[in-house]
Amino acid sequence: MSKTVSIAIDGPAGAGKSTIAKALAGELGYYYVDTGAIYRTVAYFLDLLGISPKDTDGVERYIDELTVAIEYDEDGKQHMIMNGMDVTDEIRTQDISQKASLVSAHKVVRDMLLDMQRDVARHNNVIMDGRDIGTVVLPKATVKIFLTASAEVRAQRRTDELIAKGQKANYSQILKEIQLRDHQDSTRPIAPLKQAKDAVLVDTSALDIDGVIAEIKRIVGEKIGL
Ligand code: DC
Repeated sequence: MSKTVSIAIDGPAGAGKSTIAKALAGELGYYYVDTGAIYRTVAYFLDLLGISPKDTDGVERYIDELTVAIEYDEDGKQHMIMNGMDVTDEIRTQDISQKASLVSAHKVVRDMLLDMQRDVARHNNVIMDGRDIGTVVLPKATVKIFLTASAEVRAQRRTDELIAKGQKANYSQILKEIQLRDHQDSTRPIAPLKQAKDAVLVDTSALDIDGVIAEIKRIVGEKIGL
């Protein structure tokens, strides 16, 4: 088997994983795999059918009717395909964030998505971000990073981001949502959000984007000799 390089970046919602992973993947010429988008696609599908993300029977009954695929466009942007339909933009709502967190706790959902994620890394050099990449999906990843920041800093960044886009943002509401998602993602019994023993912890609370990218590049560079 040819040897591929895999960089696992895990951490809570809003830690900046996707921004960092995307920038680094562009520089290294690796595929960027946003695994949260896959869970979001499942959540969106069940939502369209009116199935509650907490309804285990409903999730188990309808999950077989879903086909999820990842495609990349010529700019390297990841697209999520749900039963042949591109839902990349539709899955980016606050409502789907919350539902994806609940849906991702079901064993049937995690089992269904595991091979798909591993397959991408088997054939390509990847930077994969999520919650359980270093612990479950790619336990032998070449580099593992656990990216975090305080809930308050993450909520403030998200608030600023929305305001910059001209959208409404309520800091305390956003903070509550982040804390709820942290709790759900880290306390579920299967593949919870947690730092792998061999992951390097990077706390971004006091760093700006360029600072974080520099730090991650240093960590990756040490491992793979950039
Ligand atoms: O990274 P994100 O915010 O797009 O993820 C949405 C939800 O999907 C997250 O709250 C938990 C779930 N998720 C997961 O359980 N495992 C992953 N590897 C990625 C995301």
